[in-house]
Amino acid sequence: MLKTRFTELFGVEHPITQGGMQWVGRAELVAAVANAGALGFLTALTQPTPEALAKEIERCCEMTDRPFGVNLTILPAITPPPYAEYRRAIIESGVKIVETAGQNPEEHIPEFKANDVKVLHKVTAVRHAVKAQKIGVDAVSIDGFECAGHPGEDDIPGLILIPAAAERVSIPMIASGGFADGRGLVAALALGADGVNMGTRFLCTQEAPIHDRVKEQIVAHDERATEMIFRTLHNTARVASNAVSREVVAIERGGGKFEDVRHLVAGARGRKVFEDGDPDFGIWTAGLCQGLIHDIPSVADVVERIVQEAEELIARRLARMVSSGVAA
Ligand SMILES: Cc1cc2nc3c(=O)[nH]c(=O)nc-3n(C[C@H](O)[C@H](O)[C@H](O)COP(=O)(O)O)c2cc1C
Repeated sequence: MLKTRFTELFGVEHPITQGGMQWVGRAELVAAVANAGALGFLTALTQPTPEALAKEIERCCEMTDRPFGVNLTILPAITPPPYAEYRRAIIESGVKIVETAGQNPEEHIPEFKANDVKVLHKVTAVRHAVKAQKIGVDAVSIDGFECAGHPGEDDIPGLILIPAAAERVSIPMIASGGFADGRGLVAALALGADGVNMGTRFLCTQEAPIHDRVKEQIVAHDERATEMIFRTLHNTARVASNAVSREVVAIERGGGKFEDVRHLVAGARGRKVFEDGDPDFGIWTAGLCQGLIHDIPSVADVVERIVQEAEELIARRLARMVSSGVAA
């Protein structure tokens, strides 16, 4: 058992979270993560309405009696989703942990606090972690350059970002981006984090509700198999490398604007990749840690393996180095 400030604060067994994943963070996956003793998050905006989210929370409660949370991704949008109504659905469903991401969650904090909901805010920069602590979140998750999805624009890898953030925030902190095994968890703890957040590793599990061919593609991919799209729009997203993402990057490099790639990046096409299993049909999200993923295990196996490997690394390999000065 690895006890950290994170496991204490959120009342879970293992210092591992499964971050929000659009189209993937559904009850099947989140309940499996909860049952494995880690902390999973349903993705609020995967549900078309706040009512549908309430139903999904109910479904998840039927599959686990352990704690789980909901991810609320706050994106800049011309017509934003009804965030206040999603927030209400979370609170009224009795969920006690929320992962916020995207923009500053400040407007949501008072109501979450008033209803004893703990907020874990995901950031991509030290300054944003400091700000999040200041506005009263309970914990931060810091996403490095390696991560799937939105790494921000600073390009700071976890090796620097995690300790730099640990120096500046005093609340519990989860390291995110590039973690897929016990070695990563030990490294994160050594760098000052209280646990790890994983997306891509959980995407490639038996319970992830996506087509098997996408999981097989992740196993086939190595650490070079991502593209960074929307760099020129200052809204970078790290996604799996495929015919479509490479075309988007080429158009951007050629001076193309959003209008020139809109047809390629449509969310509906990405969703179809997960449903129909053609990895080249649209944009889908995956991170550098594809290079560390070689199988499609159950969620329980992933969590157990990571914790066991981490414990062995700490208690044996690293401890032996200290006592004998010789690497195992
Ligand atoms: C398929 C997929 C969809 C994602 N969608 C979201 C999302 O909707 N909101 C969010 O905050 N993060 C999203 N993420 C990011 C993850 O929550 C997590 O921060 C990231 O995957 C960590 O990096 P890793 O993949 O290297 O573990 C997504 C990641 C993946 C792989």
